[in-house]
Amino acid sequence: METLKGRDLLSLADLNASEVGELLELAAQMKAGTVHRRCNKILGLLFSKASTRTRVSFTVAMYQLGGQVIDLNPNVTQVSRGEPLIDTARVLDRYLDIVAIRTFDPKDLETFADYAKIPVINALSDREHPCQILADLLTVQECFGSLAGVTLTYLGDGNNVANSLLLGCALVGINVRIATPSGYEPDAEVVQQAVAIANGGSEVTITTDPIAAAKGAQVLYTDVWASMGQENLADQRMPVFQPYQLNDELLSLSDKTAIVLHCLPAHRGEEITDAVMEGNQSRVWDQAENRMHAQKALLASLLGAD
Ligand code: CP
Ligand code: NVA
Repeated sequence: METLKGRDLLSLADLNASEVGELLELAAQMKAGTVHRRCNKILGLLFSKASTRTRVSFTVAMYQLGGQVIDLNPNVTQVSRGEPLIDTARVLDRYLDIVAIRTFDPKDLETFADYAKIPVINALSDREHPCQILADLLTVQECFGSLAGVTLTYLGDGNNVANSLLLGCALVGINVRIATPSGYEPDAEVVQQAVAIANGGSEVTITTDPIAAAKGAQVLYTDVWASMGQENLADQRMPVFQPYQLNDELLSLSDKTAIVLHCLPAHRGEEITDAVMEGNQSRVWDQAENRMHAQKALLASLLGAD
Protein backbone atom coordinates (compact mmCIF):
# COMPACT_ATOMS: atom_id res chain seq x y z
CA MET A 1 0.00 0.00 0.00
CA GLU A 2 1.08 3.58 -0.69
CA THR A 3 1.86 5.18 2.63
CA LEU A 4 0.23 8.40 3.70
CA LYS A 5 3.23 9.02 5.96
CA GLY A 6 3.47 12.56 7.26
CA ARG A 7 0.20 13.75 5.71
CA ASP A 8 -2.72 15.48 7.44
CA LEU A 9 -6.36 14.38 7.28
CA LEU A 10 -8.34 17.58 7.73
CA SER A 11 -10.98 16.74 5.11
CA LEU A 12 -11.90 13.56 3.28
CA ALA A 13 -11.10 15.53 0.14
CA ASP A 14 -7.44 15.36 1.25
CA LEU A 15 -7.54 11.74 0.04
CA ASN A 16 -8.05 10.45 -3.47
CA ALA A 17 -10.18 7.46 -4.43
CA SER A 18 -7.33 4.95 -4.43
CA GLU A 19 -6.03 6.17 -1.07
CA VAL A 20 -9.48 5.69 0.47
CA GLY A 21 -9.71 2.22 -1.11
CA GLU A 22 -6.29 1.25 0.26
CA LEU A 23 -7.10 2.54 3.75
CA LEU A 24 -10.33 0.53 3.81
CA GLU A 25 -8.49 -2.55 2.59
CA LEU A 26 -5.85 -2.15 5.31
CA ALA A 27 -8.58 -1.63 7.93
CA ALA A 28 -10.38 -4.79 6.77
CA GLN A 29 -7.14 -6.79 6.88
CA MET A 30 -6.23 -5.52 10.34
CA LYS A 31 -9.75 -6.29 11.53
CA ALA A 32 -9.47 -9.82 10.14
CA GLY A 33 -6.08 -10.23 11.80
CA THR A 34 -4.31 -10.98 8.53
CA VAL A 35 -2.14 -7.84 8.67
CA HIS A 36 -0.44 -6.33 11.72
CA ARG A 37 1.30 -2.99 12.05
CA ARG A 38 3.46 -1.78 14.93
CA CYS A 39 4.68 1.65 15.92
CA ASN A 40 6.06 3.07 19.13
CA LYS A 41 4.67 6.59 18.70
CA ILE A 42 2.71 9.12 20.73
CA LEU A 43 -0.76 10.37 19.76
CA GLY A 44 -2.19 13.53 21.34
CA LEU A 45 -5.94 14.02 21.61
CA LEU A 46 -6.85 17.71 21.67
CA PHE A 47 -10.65 17.67 22.00
CA SER A 48 -12.70 20.82 22.66
CA LYS A 49 -16.00 18.92 22.46
CA ALA A 50 -17.32 15.81 24.17
CA SER A 51 -16.58 12.39 22.67
CA THR A 52 -17.01 8.75 23.55
CA ARG A 53 -16.39 6.80 20.35
CA THR A 54 -13.69 8.94 18.77
CA ARG A 55 -11.72 9.36 21.98
CA VAL A 56 -11.84 5.69 22.97
CA SER A 57 -11.45 4.20 19.50
CA PHE A 58 -8.38 6.36 18.76
CA THR A 59 -6.90 5.45 22.14
CA VAL A 60 -7.48 1.72 21.76
CA ALA A 61 -6.25 1.77 18.15
CA MET A 62 -3.02 3.50 19.19
CA TYR A 63 -2.46 1.07 22.10
CA GLN A 64 -3.01 -1.88 19.76
CA LEU A 65 -0.39 -0.45 17.40
CA GLY A 66 2.05 -0.36 20.32
CA GLY A 67 1.89 3.41 20.74
CA GLN A 68 0.72 5.66 23.54
CA VAL A 69 -1.86 8.41 23.92
CA ILE A 70 -1.95 11.70 25.81
CA ASP A 71 -5.36 13.22 26.48
CA LEU A 72 -4.87 16.97 26.05
CA ASN A 73 -8.17 18.09 27.51
CA PRO A 74 -8.21 21.86 26.89
CA ASN A 75 -9.50 22.43 30.41
CA VAL A 76 -6.29 21.13 31.95
CA THR A 77 -3.89 22.67 29.44
CA GLN A 78 -3.16 26.33 28.79
CA VAL A 79 -5.45 26.21 25.73
CA SER A 80 -8.51 27.12 27.82
CA ARG A 81 -6.57 30.05 29.33
CA GLY A 82 -6.07 31.57 25.92
CA GLU A 83 -2.61 30.41 24.81
CA PRO A 84 -2.62 31.06 21.06
CA LEU A 85 -3.16 27.97 18.92
CA ILE A 86 -0.12 28.82 16.81
CA ASP A 87 2.05 28.62 19.96
CA THR A 88 0.39 25.42 21.21
CA ALA A 89 0.86 23.83 17.78
CA ARG A 90 4.59 24.58 17.65
CA VAL A 91 5.15 23.25 21.17
CA LEU A 92 3.09 20.06 20.79
CA ASP A 93 4.86 19.44 17.49
CA ARG A 94 8.09 19.01 19.50
CA TYR A 95 6.57 16.35 21.81
CA LEU A 96 4.02 14.36 19.83
CA ASP A 97 4.25 12.19 16.72
CA ILE A 98 0.64 12.76 15.63
CA VAL A 99 -2.41 14.67 16.90
CA ALA A 100 -6.17 14.28 16.56
CA ILE A 101 -8.16 17.48 17.10
CA ARG A 102 -11.88 17.91 17.78
CA THR A 103 -12.92 21.54 17.48
CA PHE A 104 -15.71 23.90 16.45
CA ASP A 105 -14.06 26.08 13.82
CA PRO A 106 -12.49 24.11 10.95
CA LYS A 107 -9.95 26.96 10.56
CA ASP A 108 -8.38 25.80 13.86
CA LEU A 109 -7.36 22.59 12.13
CA GLU A 110 -5.78 24.46 9.23
CA THR A 111 -3.97 26.78 11.62
CA PHE A 112 -2.63 23.93 13.72
CA ALA A 113 -1.52 22.05 10.61
CA ASP A 114 0.24 25.17 9.27
CA TYR A 115 2.30 25.47 12.45
CA ALA A 116 2.96 21.77 13.20
CA LYS A 117 4.88 19.36 11.01
CA ILE A 118 3.35 16.22 12.58
CA PRO A 119 0.22 14.71 10.97
CA VAL A 120 -2.98 16.43 12.10
CA ILE A 121 -6.24 14.45 12.03
CA ASN A 122 -9.68 16.06 12.04
CA ALA A 123 -11.54 14.22 14.81
CA LEU A 124 -14.66 16.34 14.04
CA SER A 125 -15.21 20.00 13.33
CA ASP A 126 -18.41 21.91 12.59
CA ARG A 127 -17.67 21.31 8.90
CA GLU A 128 -16.53 17.68 8.67
CA HIS A 129 -16.12 14.34 10.41
CA PRO A 130 -13.83 12.39 8.06
CA CYS A 131 -12.85 9.58 10.47
CA GLN A 132 -16.51 8.73 10.98
CA ILE A 133 -17.05 8.34 7.27
CA LEU A 134 -14.03 6.05 6.84
CA ALA A 135 -15.71 3.71 9.35
CA ASP A 136 -19.06 4.11 7.60
CA LEU A 137 -17.57 3.15 4.24
CA LEU A 138 -15.90 0.13 5.82
CA THR A 139 -19.31 -0.91 7.19
CA VAL A 140 -21.06 -0.49 3.83
CA GLN A 141 -18.28 -2.47 2.14
CA GLU A 142 -18.67 -5.29 4.66
CA CYS A 143 -22.44 -5.40 4.14
CA PHE A 144 -22.55 -5.17 0.34
CA GLY A 145 -19.14 -6.49 -0.69
CA SER A 146 -18.37 -3.32 -2.66
CA LEU A 147 -19.05 0.40 -2.63
CA ALA A 148 -19.43 1.66 -6.20
CA GLY A 149 -23.05 1.76 -7.31
CA VAL A 150 -24.56 1.48 -3.80
CA THR A 151 -27.18 4.18 -3.03
CA LEU A 152 -26.91 5.89 0.37
CA THR A 153 -29.57 8.27 1.70
CA TYR A 154 -28.86 10.62 4.57
CA LEU A 155 -31.89 12.13 6.31
CA GLY A 156 -31.87 15.15 8.61
CA ASP A 157 -29.48 18.00 9.22
CA GLY A 158 -26.95 19.00 6.56
CA ASN A 159 -24.19 18.98 9.17
CA ASN A 160 -20.55 17.85 9.49
CA VAL A 161 -21.48 14.18 9.00
CA ALA A 162 -23.57 14.99 5.91
CA ASN A 163 -20.71 17.04 4.46
CA SER A 164 -18.16 14.26 4.93
CA LEU A 165 -20.57 11.63 3.64
CA LEU A 166 -20.94 13.66 0.44
CA LEU A 167 -17.19 13.68 -0.10
CA GLY A 168 -16.64 10.07 0.96
CA CYS A 169 -19.44 8.69 -1.20
CA ALA A 170 -18.30 10.74 -4.20
CA LEU A 171 -14.76 9.39 -3.78
CA VAL A 172 -15.81 5.72 -3.80
CA GLY A 173 -18.66 5.90 -6.34
CA ILE A 174 -21.61 5.61 -3.95
CA ASN A 175 -24.76 7.42 -5.15
CA VAL A 176 -25.49 9.84 -2.33
CA ARG A 177 -28.80 11.53 -1.55
CA ILE A 178 -29.00 14.14 1.19
CA ALA A 179 -32.55 15.01 2.30
CA THR A 180 -32.84 17.99 4.65
CA PRO A 181 -35.44 20.61 5.46
CA SER A 182 -35.10 23.76 3.41
CA GLY A 183 -32.44 25.99 4.94
CA TYR A 184 -30.56 23.05 6.50
CA GLU A 185 -28.74 21.84 3.39
CA PRO A 186 -25.10 20.74 3.55
CA ASP A 187 -22.34 23.27 2.94
CA ALA A 188 -22.67 24.56 -0.64
CA GLU A 189 -18.90 24.46 -1.24
CA VAL A 190 -18.74 20.84 -0.08
CA VAL A 191 -21.62 19.92 -2.41
CA GLN A 192 -19.72 21.48 -5.32
CA GLN A 193 -16.57 19.62 -4.30
CA ALA A 194 -18.48 16.33 -4.11
CA VAL A 195 -20.01 16.84 -7.56
CA ALA A 196 -16.54 17.57 -8.95
CA ILE A 197 -15.04 14.49 -7.26
CA ALA A 198 -17.90 12.24 -8.43
CA ASN A 199 -17.37 13.61 -11.93
CA GLY A 200 -20.48 11.86 -13.20
CA GLY A 201 -19.31 8.50 -11.82
CA SER A 202 -21.94 8.54 -9.09
CA GLU A 203 -25.03 10.64 -8.43
CA VAL A 204 -25.06 13.46 -5.90
CA THR A 205 -28.60 14.52 -4.98
CA ILE A 206 -29.58 17.28 -2.56
CA THR A 207 -33.32 17.33 -1.87
CA THR A 208 -35.95 18.38 0.66
CA ASP A 209 -38.04 15.26 -0.09
CA PRO A 210 -37.35 12.45 2.44
CA ILE A 211 -39.75 10.04 0.73
CA ALA A 212 -38.19 10.31 -2.72
CA ALA A 213 -34.74 10.09 -1.13
CA ALA A 214 -35.54 6.94 0.85
CA LYS A 215 -37.07 5.06 -2.09
CA GLY A 216 -34.89 2.15 -3.16
CA ALA A 217 -31.89 3.25 -1.07
CA GLN A 218 -29.57 0.53 0.24
CA VAL A 219 -28.25 2.55 3.14
CA LEU A 220 -30.36 4.87 5.29
CA TYR A 221 -28.28 7.13 7.52
CA THR A 222 -29.17 9.78 10.04
CA ASP A 223 -27.59 11.96 12.71
CA VAL A 224 -28.81 14.29 15.46
CA TRP A 225 -30.93 17.30 14.52
CA ALA A 226 -28.90 19.62 16.74
CA SER A 227 -25.15 19.03 16.82
CA MET A 228 -22.78 19.83 19.65
CA GLY A 229 -22.86 23.58 20.16
CA GLN A 230 -26.43 23.86 18.80
CA GLU A 231 -28.22 22.49 21.89
CA ASN A 232 -30.19 25.75 22.29
CA LEU A 233 -31.73 25.22 18.83
CA ALA A 234 -32.99 21.70 19.54
CA ASP A 235 -36.58 22.60 20.50
CA GLN A 236 -37.25 24.87 17.54
CA ARG A 237 -35.77 22.33 15.13
CA MET A 238 -37.88 19.40 16.34
CA PRO A 239 -41.06 20.09 14.30
CA VAL A 240 -39.08 21.17 11.23
CA PHE A 241 -37.12 17.91 11.15
CA GLN A 242 -39.97 15.53 12.09
CA PRO A 243 -40.69 14.44 8.45
CA TYR A 244 -37.05 13.32 8.20
CA GLN A 245 -37.22 10.94 11.17
CA LEU A 246 -35.74 7.54 10.30
CA ASN A 247 -38.73 5.37 11.19
CA ASP A 248 -40.41 2.18 9.91
CA GLU A 249 -42.39 4.15 7.35
CA LEU A 250 -39.32 5.59 5.60
CA LEU A 251 -37.41 2.35 6.03
CA SER A 252 -40.20 0.44 4.27
CA LEU A 253 -39.59 2.56 1.15
CA SER A 254 -35.94 1.58 0.92
CA ASP A 255 -34.45 -1.49 -0.71
CA LYS A 256 -35.33 -4.81 1.01
CA THR A 257 -31.65 -5.39 1.80
CA ALA A 258 -31.17 -1.88 3.18
CA ILE A 259 -29.08 -1.26 6.27
CA VAL A 260 -29.47 1.54 8.81
CA LEU A 261 -26.52 3.61 10.01
CA HIS A 262 -26.18 6.34 12.64
CA CYS A 263 -22.85 7.84 13.70
CA LEU A 264 -24.08 8.01 17.34
CA PRO A 265 -24.79 9.34 19.88
CA ALA A 266 -28.49 9.02 18.96
CA HIS A 267 -31.51 10.85 20.28
CA ARG A 268 -34.00 7.99 20.08
CA GLY A 269 -37.50 9.17 19.30
CA GLU A 270 -36.13 12.21 17.47
CA GLU A 271 -34.01 11.55 14.36
CA ILE A 272 -34.41 7.75 14.69
CA THR A 273 -37.03 5.55 16.35
CA ASP A 274 -36.20 2.91 18.93
CA ALA A 275 -37.67 0.26 16.63
CA VAL A 276 -35.37 1.16 13.72
CA MET A 277 -32.31 1.56 15.91
CA GLU A 278 -32.88 -1.87 17.48
CA GLY A 279 -34.32 -3.47 14.33
CA ASN A 280 -32.69 -6.21 12.31
CA GLN A 281 -31.57 -3.80 9.57
CA SER A 282 -29.57 -1.68 12.00
CA ARG A 283 -25.78 -1.95 11.72
CA VAL A 284 -24.98 0.85 14.15
CA TRP A 285 -22.89 -1.26 16.56
CA ASP A 286 -20.73 -2.69 13.75
CA GLN A 287 -20.39 0.86 12.48
CA ALA A 288 -19.22 2.07 15.91
CA GLU A 289 -16.74 -0.82 16.16
CA ASN A 290 -15.37 0.06 12.75
CA ARG A 291 -14.29 3.47 14.03
CA MET A 292 -11.42 1.65 15.74
CA HIS A 293 -10.41 -0.48 12.75
CA ALA A 294 -10.56 2.41 10.27
CA GLN A 295 -8.62 4.74 12.56
CA LYS A 296 -6.01 2.08 13.31
CA ALA A 297 -5.37 1.82 9.58
CA LEU A 298 -5.30 5.61 9.31
CA LEU A 299 -2.82 6.00 12.18
CA ALA A 300 -0.59 3.23 10.80
CA SER A 301 -0.59 4.87 7.40
CA LEU A 302 0.00 8.47 8.55
CA LEU A 303 2.80 7.26 10.86
CA GLY A 304 4.31 5.00 8.20
CA ALA A 305 4.10 2.02 10.57
CA ASP A 306 5.43 -1.30 9.23
N1 CP B 1 -19.64 9.36 16.32
C1 CP B 1 -18.80 10.02 17.13
O1 CP B 1 -17.90 10.74 16.71
O2 CP B 1 -19.04 9.81 18.44
P1 CP B 1 -18.35 10.57 19.66
O3 CP B 1 -18.86 12.00 19.63
O4 CP B 1 -18.80 9.83 20.88
O5 CP B 1 -16.87 10.55 19.47
N1 NVA C 1 -23.24 16.03 14.07
C1 NVA C 1 -22.87 15.56 15.38
C2 NVA C 1 -21.96 14.39 15.25
C3 NVA C 1 -21.52 13.79 16.56
C4 NVA C 1 -20.59 12.63 16.38
C5 NVA C 1 -22.22 16.67 16.16
O1 NVA C 1 -21.40 17.39 15.58
O2 NVA C 1 -22.53 16.83 17.34
